[in-house]
Amino acid sequence: MILTYYGHSCFLLETKGVKILFDPFITPNALADKIDVDSIEADYILITHGHEDHIADAVKIGKRTGALVISNYEVVTWLQKQGLKNCHPMNHGGTKEFEFGRLKYVNAVHSSSLPDGSYGGNPGGFVLIGEITLYHAGDTALSYDMKLLGDFFSIDVALLPIGDNFTMGVEDAIIASDFIQCNNIIGMHYDTFEVIKINKDAATFLFDNAMKALTLLNIGESIELVTD
Ligand code: NI
Ligand code: MN
Repeated sequence: MILTYYGHSCFLLETKGVKILFDPFITPNALADKIDVDSIEADYILITHGHEDHIADAVKIGKRTGALVISNYEVVTWLQKQGLKNCHPMNHGGTKEFEFGRLKYVNAVHSSSLPDGSYGGNPGGFVLIGEITLYHAGDTALSYDMKLLGDFFSIDVALLPIGDNFTMGVEDAIIASDFIQCNNIIGMHYDTFEVIKINKDAATFLFDNAMKALTLLNIGESIELVTD
């Protein structure tokens, strides 16, 4: 399993021969200007919520690749209006089996409107139970609901927002990692905009102090994921 970071909350997971792209926001991201969005391959595109910084390239990549686009009902309905045909709607608490494993759409405490102001339903995150159990939290505050994920899943790696202001910051992400019972955290949703710039050394130090691993990938960097 290979995980590639394309900046902000956008990752590509390669597992079981398929490529799963999360929250594509590359073209408008100045930090990701070295990434060639037109060369990204995807079999699935998973979108946590409707905000521009999670959906900006979804239509473009979806149309080119023919990937199955998975999000909540309202986001999927909007994407279909933009011309995407291959979509799968979910909603909170629902699990569905795909060729890469089971996928559950879980709660996030945030908001969700689409780039043109349309209603985006409620925001979420995904737990992917396949070759590895991976949690992409989307944009969220720290929430007690995360304890349910810790109780019911054995999460190997969690992608958590750490940029503060719009989502959890580092301190809350450390508590979240306790709630989900996963000490292997990959940070996201930081540095992209002025208001979410973080001190990366300080963040890593705080995670170290809590006996947890925080990985901050360079944009374009790929890592191999292994189960505990
Ligand atoms: Ni958001
Ligand atoms: Mn966001």
